[in-house]
Amino acid sequence: MQIAVIGSGYVGLVAAACFSELGHKVVCVDNNAERIAALNAGEVLIHEEFLPEVLGRNHGRRLTFSCDSAEAIRSATAIVIAVGTPQGADGQADLSYVESVAHEIAQRTNGYKLIVEKSTVPVYTNAWIQKLMLENGCAIEDFDVVSNPEFLREGTAITDFLYPDRIVVGADSDRARKFMREIYSPLLNGSYSRESGAVPGPDNAEDVEYLETSTQSAELIKHASNAFLAMKISFINMVASVSERVGADIEEVRRGIGSDKRIGQKFLRAGIGYGGSCFPKDVAAFQSVARACGSRWNLLEEVSRINQEQIARFLQKVRGAIGTLRGKRIAALGLAFKGGTDDIRESPAINVIQGLLAEGCKVTAFDPAAMEKAKEVLGKSVTYAQDAYAAAENADALVILTEWKEFAVLDLKRLRRLLAVPLVLDGRNLYSPETMSQAGLTYHSVGRYNGKNRSLDFAMQDGALQLRPAFGD
Ligand code: UDX
Ligand code: UDX
Repeated sequence: MQIAVIGSGYVGLVAAACFSELGHKVVCVDNNAERIAALNAGEVLIHEEFLPEVLGRNHGRRLTFSCDSAEAIRSATAIVIAVGTPQGADGQADLSYVESVAHEIAQRTNGYKLIVEKSTVPVYTNAWIQKLMLENGCAIEDFDVVSNPEFLREGTAITDFLYPDRIVVGADSDRARKFMREIYSPLLNGSYSRESGAVPGPDNAEDVEYLETSTQSAELIKHASNAFLAMKISFINMVASVSERVGADIEEVRRGIGSDKRIGQKFLRAGIGYGGSCFPKDVAAFQSVARACGSRWNLLEEVSRINQEQIARFLQKVRGAIGTLRGKRIAALGLAFKGGTDDIRESPAINVIQGLLAEGCKVTAFDPAAMEKAKEVLGKSVTYAQDAYAAAENADALVILTEWKEFAVLDLKRLRRLLAVPLVLDGRNLYSPETMSQAGLTYHSVGRYNGKNRSLDFAMQDGALQLRPAFGD
């Protein structure tokens, strides 16, 4: 099928590359001419496993890049909207980019168009696009509007796209449903995975669940999925705070909770909170939808509040371990909002570093992929190191802020020798306290008792167990 993908950001670029990988003829459009020139020159632009290979195979053959949205709209049967939907005033999603693309489609349309809305949008956005098309004189038989939310995670975006748990298609007509099944058929019938040279699937890949719903349901599925995952993270971070105070170990608690199959282990890792371009804004946007429904649901407010406080709690931990922060040299491992990506949008790592700088620390940072992007935000306030060991040299403490795989397999003896003070504060629980202590490192992590940090003791009083401040062990 001839597909135009509007937007060449994280979602648009991956979707365009993967649709071409599935055999469709795709033009990926962006109004940022520099971006399109770079893509046309063969640059990959984002750090994403398998993206260079997929672009390499398809660019110039089934995949082209262009700034000419009018031509792309005219020549395509399916138009995928993948522009950003940032957080706007009072938490609502800012739909101005979606709005301008929809207007352009309405003006340029010539014959049947399948409009596939992939950007994360609040409920009723698809209905609004349909209304706009009709108001612009497009006949109902000449277009369909489909909600096809994207669930890919950065870092594993290509694999997530090609081997998804589920594909959600919110459509109101049989024609639209038929076209959408055609677009995804190589994933639905398994033919893509059997192709020689196909991107390999994850070890435990299962058959994809293909869900056809109404457009409103599809829109809610996306918002509610992200809000639920964010809630899981805030929940475990709250349990981590309790664990630490009472001398429990969040890693043991997590295994215990997560081995209940109804709960599951995924998205239960305690740390310095969630970031990225999706969770913070989608929780806020879903809150706005909930508010508009007229009910007082404070659940999502709490999810965001716990997440924001997670940064303050970690900074407090650093203060507690180092004492006064002014003038201290801190090695910071991680700038990206999570491992496997160069994206620093809403990165908790950057927030922690900014907190340390505000208190007068000198920070030397290293990230395997996100340093260039971080420089645009942190500039010269931070020194950038070549690798983790160079960052650690002569530091008064090392903080681990992003869950990069590389940071979980550091040469600890070497680290011990390089640090001025053998102190590690791990915001992502990448190590076991035993391993760190064997390497001669003083180790603080999230939600784990370290022999000192228990702050609550107990006493039995009148048949009730009272928790009361502890005075050290
Ligand atoms: C995507 C989704 O679309 C968003 O709704 C979701 O919640 C997160 O993922 P993302 O791909 O991360 O957004 O957005 P971004 O990296 O900002 O890319 C959007 C691209 O669209 C940019 O390159 C921008 O130049 C382009 N754009 C924007 C257009 O081509 N036309 C416009 O009118 C507006
Ligand atoms: C998320 C959704 O997972 C994806 O389905 C949607 O399409 C876009 O938003 P992404 O933002 O790429 O994907 O990252 P994700 O892997 O979900 O992680 C988000 C944040 O949560 C990161 O900052 C990560 O460090 C944090 N996280 C994740 C935790 O703190 N603990 C966990 O257990 C999992």
